[in-house]
Amino acid sequence: MKRTTSVFLVGPMGAGKSTIGRLLSSEMKLEFIDSDKVIEERCGANIPWIFDKEGEAGFREREEQVIDELTMLDGIVLATGGGAVMREANRRHLAGRGMVVYLCTSVEQQLARTAKDKNRPLLQNDNPEKILRDLFAKRDPMYREVADIVIQTDRRNPRWVVQELQKRL
Ligand code: S3P
Repeated sequence: MKRTTSVFLVGPMGAGKSTIGRLLSSEMKLEFIDSDKVIEERCGANIPWIFDKEGEAGFREREEQVIDELTMLDGIVLATGGGAVMREANRRHLAGRGMVVYLCTSVEQQLARTAKDKNRPLLQNDNPEKILRDLFAKRDPMYREVADIVIQTDRRNPRWVVQELQKRL
């Protein structure tokens, strides 16, 4: 038995976790929470600043703490950062406590949705496509490991995705 009645969205940057999460939460009359926003609020600084001052390791520590707390809440739709599944503790908390939905998206689509986004420090590089491909290769098995539902969001209207999810949740 899962411990909460919450829905946790996982998937790469640009998969549509925030857009779909907001729509789904309003359809299901649940609260929407974005773990990255909670990290930023607590720290009083944005994600690029945290990466710059504390490194990725510092960000991941903050992320683990926040995921542990948020996955214990009932009745929320939670959008997680694309790298949350990298830590075993996060995978355990996500998979053990709520319904996990993997929003699966091609690298082309991820790139189109994240191009020129200064708020994603991992992509501030000459070759964001290669970064996204490498991350996807590493992380796709982890997203699948924790997911109860896998849904493709490529070329899909977010409203269609939400309707489909409501049938499957
Ligand atoms: C990251 C994804 C970002 C954010 C941080 C690291 C990642 O969240 O947590 O920049 O490692 O893929 P989104 O998936 O919401 O962009």
